[in-house]
Amino acid sequence: MSKTAIYPGSFDPITNGHIDIIERALKIFDKVIVTIMYNPSKKSLFTIDERISLIKESLKDFDRVEVDSNDGLLVDYAKEKKVNALIRGMRAVSDFETEFQMAMLNRRLARDIETIFFMTGLRWIFTSSSVIKEAASFGADISGMVTPLVQQALIKKFNK
Ligand code: PNS
Repeated sequence: MSKTAIYPGSFDPITNGHIDIIERALKIFDKVIVTIMYNPSKKSLFTIDERISLIKESLKDFDRVEVDSNDGLLVDYAKEKKVNALIRGMRAVSDFETEFQMAMLNRRLARDIETIFFMTGLRWIFTSSSVIKEAASFGADISGMVTPLVQQALIKKFNK
């Protein structure tokens, strides 16, 4: 029986921290569906189509990854996909409360869907799409935190 997990997030844009989680998840799961979901508390920089193409290009060497987007409830999407494992990355303690709340809510909504947390790799502990976007908006060098393609896309966005 093949095991699939959904990795939901805003991915605005995908970072090397996300890629690290995907790589590690692929050691446990046969397939990972990276799904851009709508987070009402975040204002996005990239459109869904831009984010999908950045993810696809950044993950072009991964053959067990599917990229998708959905604007509904995460647990409904998981049921639709017949997947009962959700992956989330956990960085510092500061992530814990939100992640715990989200996992609890999702469990309350769908008892048979489990959230599995991956501790972020030490290298990526202080990075997030938000801080990378902020740094890039001031012209900071963000190489090594995102793929070269994402770096170019950020430079282009902020040069407009
Ligand atoms: O990368 P993010 O922004 O931390 O990801 C959060 C995301 C998009 C996974 C979350 O907001 C989400 O699941 N959105 C879909 C709507 C939903 O199901 N909300 C209830 C769970 S809190």
